[in-house]
Amino acid sequence: MNSPRICCIGAGYVGGPTMAMIAKQCPEISVHVVDLNQARIDRWNSNDLPVYEPGLDEVVQEARGRNLTFSTNVREAIHESDIIFIAVNTPTKSFGVGAGRAANLEFIEKCARTIAECSSGHKVVVEKSTLPVRTAEAVKRILESSGNGATFDVLSNPEFLAEGTAVQDLLHPDRILIGGESASAVEKLAAVYARWIPRDRILTTNLWSSELSKLTANAFLAQRVSSINAISALCEATGADVDEVAKAIGTDSRIGPKFLKASVGFGGSCFQKDILNLVYLCEHFGLREVAEYWEQVVKMNDYQKRRFSTRMVRTMFNTVSDKRIAVLGFAFKKDTNDTRESAAIHVCRDLLEERAKIAIYDPRVPESQIREELRLSFADAMGRISDHHAKLIETNVTVHASLYEATEKSHAVAVLTEWDEFRNFDAGRVLQSMFRPAFVFDGRNIVDRKQLTEAGFEVHSIGRATSH
Ligand code: UDX
Ligand code: ADP
Repeated sequence: MNSPRICCIGAGYVGGPTMAMIAKQCPEISVHVVDLNQARIDRWNSNDLPVYEPGLDEVVQEARGRNLTFSTNVREAIHESDIIFIAVNTPTKSFGVGAGRAANLEFIEKCARTIAECSSGHKVVVEKSTLPVRTAEAVKRILESSGNGATFDVLSNPEFLAEGTAVQDLLHPDRILIGGESASAVEKLAAVYARWIPRDRILTTNLWSSELSKLTANAFLAQRVSSINAISALCEATGADVDEVAKAIGTDSRIGPKFLKASVGFGGSCFQKDILNLVYLCEHFGLREVAEYWEQVVKMNDYQKRRFSTRMVRTMFNTVSDKRIAVLGFAFKKDTNDTRESAAIHVCRDLLEERAKIAIYDPRVPESQIREELRLSFADAMGRISDHHAKLIETNVTVHASLYEATEKSHAVAVLTEWDEFRNFDAGRVLQSMFRPAFVFDGRNIVDRKQLTEAGFEVHSIGRATSH
C-alpha cells in the first residue's frame, strides 16, 4: 500500500505533538503541520518549541527535516495531502447564541472552507479537535458545497493525550478511536496508527459515537476530580483526611485509584469547555435534568477554587491587603507550559481583589503569559479591562526566577501546581526570610507536611485539618 501524505491544520498542544509522533513512528509518511500563526511555526522550527512536554524535543528532532515539516503554507499542504487532520482551537463561545457554553466553531468552519477550496481528487478529513456532536455533518456539508469535483470522507479521531504526559500517551495510548461511515477511509487512518499501536486498541465506531465519546470521557474524568474535591470540603469540616479517603476508595477495583487527587481545582483547555459543550447539547435536546447534572461538575470546580482563596484570606486574619503571597506554580498541571483555565488564575485574581501582593514563580511559564492571563481574568466580554485592574496587576504582581526569590519576605506560600521541585524545598532557607506565622497553603497536597510543620510552618492542605 502506498504511504499516505498527511497534513495537520493547527500546530497547538494537540496538533504539534500528535503529528510529531506519527512522523517519528512512520518515517515513510510525509507529515506537514501548518498554522496561520507564523510565530508559533517559527518556534516549532527552532530549538525552543512552543509546547513544553517531557520527551517532545527528542521526538521532534528525530523527525523534523526528515519527514516532518512545519510551515504556514496551509493551502499547499492541503493540496498535497491525502489525509488532512483538523486540530484548530474550539474555544467556548463568548458572544451570541450559546455564549458561555457552546463551542465557537468559527475556526473549524474556516478550515473546512479552505480545505474545500484547495482540494482536488479524494481526501480524508479527520476531526482531531474536540467538537460538539454532529460537527462532522456540518464539516461534510461545507466540504461538499465547493463544487470543484473533489470528494471527501470525514472521520472523527479524538485525541486523548493529557498534557505533561503527551509523549507517553501517544506512544502507548489506551485506545485510538476512529469514527466514520466509510470503511475504506477508516482503514486508511487505522493503518497509520497500526504501525505502532496494537490493532485491538484501535476502536472504530460511527461518527457520532466517536464525537460523543470524547466529551463523555472528559466529563467523567472531570467528575471524578469534582467528586473528590467535594469530599475534601467535608474532610476539612470533619477531621477526615481526603488522601486517606481517596486511597481507601481507590482500592475498590470498581472505582480504581487514578484521578482521585483532591486539588485547588481542575484546569486545562478541555474539561470545562467540554462539559459546558455537553450541557449545551443536552439543553438543545430538551434534556434539562441531564444538563443540570453535568453542569454541577463545573460549579463544584468553581466552588473549590473560590473556597481555596477564601480559606487563605480567613486564615490570614481576614486580610491579605499589602501582604506578600508567594504563588508557586501557574500552569494548570505540572510538566506543561499551558495555563488555559488554570486554577492559579482564579486564585491570583481573588487575591488581587483583596489587594494582596503576589510573587509568582513557575518553572515553565513566561512572565508575559502570566500577566496576559491575569489581564484576561479581569476583562469583560469585549476583552476590556478597567484602569483599576490594570494598575493592580502592574503594581501588585511580580514574577520571579526561582522559588526562593518568590518566597522571600512573604507572609504565605500557596502551592498551586504540583511541579516536582515544590515537593522538597529547603524549608529552613524559606522560613528564615518569611514573616511569622509562616503559612503554607498547599493546593496540591504535595509538600511534606510533617517536615514543614516541624520546621515551624503552619500548613493548610486540601481536605485535611490544619497542622500547627
Ligand atoms: C484531559 C484528559 O485527561 C485527556 O484525556 C484529554 O485528551 C484532554 O483533557 P489534560 O487537561 O491535558 O487532559 O490533563 P489532565 O491530566 O486530565 O488534568 C486536568 C486537570 O485536572 C488538571 O488541572 C489537573 O491538575 C486536574 N486533576 C487531575 C486533579 O486535580 N486531580 C486529579 O486526580 C487529576
Ligand atoms: P489545542 O490545545 O487544541 O491544540 P491550540 O489553541 O493550542 O489548541 O492550537 C490551535 C492552533 O490552530 C493555533 O495555533 C491556531 O493558530 C491554529 N488555527 C486556528 N485556525 C486556523 C486556520 N484556519 N488555519 C490554520 N491554523 C489555524
